[in-house]
Amino acid sequence: MSEDKANPDLDTNLDPDDWDAYRAQVHSLADTLVDRMMTMGEKPVWTQIPDSIKAALTSSIPQEGVGADAALAEAKELILPYANGNPHPRFMGWVQGGGTSGGMMAAMIESTMNNNVGGREHAAVYVEKQVIRWMCDLFEFPGDASGLLTSGTSMATLNALVIARTRLLGKLTDGEKVKAQSNLRVYGSTAMHSSLAKALEIIGLGAHSFRQITTDAMGRVDVGLLQKTIIADMEDGLKPLAIVGTVGTVDIGAVDDIEALADFAQQHDIWLHIDGAFGALAILAPEIAPRLSGMKRADSIAFDFHKWGQATYVCGCLLVRSDDAHRAAFAGRASYLAGAARGLASADHWYCDYGPELSRSFKAMKVWFLLKEHGAKALGASIGKSCKLAALMETLVAKEAKLELLAPVQMNIVCFRYSGGSRDNFNALNSHIVAELQERGIAAPSTILLDGVLAIRCCFINHRTNASDVRAVIKAVLEIGDNSL
Ligand SMILES: Cc1ncc(COP(=O)(O)O)c(C=O)c1O
Repeated sequence: MSEDKANPDLDTNLDPDDWDAYRAQVHSLADTLVDRMMTMGEKPVWTQIPDSIKAALTSSIPQEGVGADAALAEAKELILPYANGNPHPRFMGWVQGGGTSGGMMAAMIESTMNNNVGGREHAAVYVEKQVIRWMCDLFEFPGDASGLLTSGTSMATLNALVIARTRLLGKLTDGEKVKAQSNLRVYGSTAMHSSLAKALEIIGLGAHSFRQITTDAMGRVDVGLLQKTIIADMEDGLKPLAIVGTVGTVDIGAVDDIEALADFAQQHDIWLHIDGAFGALAILAPEIAPRLSGMKRADSIAFDFHKWGQATYVCGCLLVRSDDAHRAAFAGRASYLAGAARGLASADHWYCDYGPELSRSFKAMKVWFLLKEHGAKALGASIGKSCKLAALMETLVAKEAKLELLAPVQMNIVCFRYSGGSRDNFNALNSHIVAELQERGIAAPSTILLDGVLAIRCCFINHRTNASDVRAVIKAVLEIGDNSL
């Protein structure tokens, strides 16, 4: 008996025994998923998860596998019907992208290749480099600028702050530098996304390091006050780490005056970071781009492809003007990760030198596929359409005496409320309207408190949303509001 036959376990693996059966399963799953995509708009936006399903999802770890057929059957029963709903045309809550049909194909390539994009010499690294280059060109960053795909804007901003801190202090390798960081301050508006405060906690600066500057009537940072605050802080011996401007605040979609922030940041050699989580990609829409021109002067920009970029979740992006500054913050590899003159380790660009993660997924695949399939112009047109739909909703709200607009519509977010009849508590009523819309599966807007007033918040991000969806939401808000009086 040969040595290998004596050890049959060494010949087993987790691949299918019957590849033809596997092929049939994949084709059948593809049919199910395509049917689901095609008919999504006819189904409820969101479906409450029954307790029985939740219970089924708390079972203990399977010791013996049930096989792919049974696992697929369970996935179809327990998981697929209870989605977040963001691909649906009447999902308007928060700022979540709808994805595209091509995203499924890109995901198939991504998972089949199963690349680790932390480094080494393979196509995925070049695809990410190409996506970053496309973005640098789009935002008019210099030819030697750098970037990294991240899980989202929260992580991109966290990385940007580490890079800005390294530029100021170098790596925190001794107590003096750690002490010096307690004098650092970061400046942004009261409308900044909560991920900034979290990032400051994580990098050890703490919430107190964030100077929150009030906003004007349009929700933009008060630049004069920001300048005064920074100058006073510097006179007190504090050191500005970064100014953070927002392109598309999460509450009402305001755009800070980035040119003015850039002028001041340049004058005082302060790092300018832009949180453009959803708004930055509006640069693709010719009618909006002129308002965003200041972004090209930033030191770093964070934004998401999974929002207005329509890539499937998750994919954020960090662009950094200086490749040197970017590398200085994160470069450094153990000997088992050393580059080589030849072979798989011969790459000159290792993404693990540009961020905290070593193992990284092939997020660039979906962005590359999306831009190849549709092109930048079509994405820009879809962003422009979202803004037109927001303007339509604003007009419909203005025409209806029982509805009240609660914030200026600047890009794609509409905040309004039902205020018909006499009611003690309009906040409770509007919260009820939103819950009803979601629970009945009609639409999924979200709520937000604006100066204590609860608004129904509709964010137009999804490329599938049409004028009829806008009208349907307004009609349903009126009906539910009227019937709740
Ligand atoms: C303005 C802004 N910044 C940051 C974020 C966080 O982005 P992500 O969820 O991709 O981490 C969001 C999310 O909605 C946002 O709207």
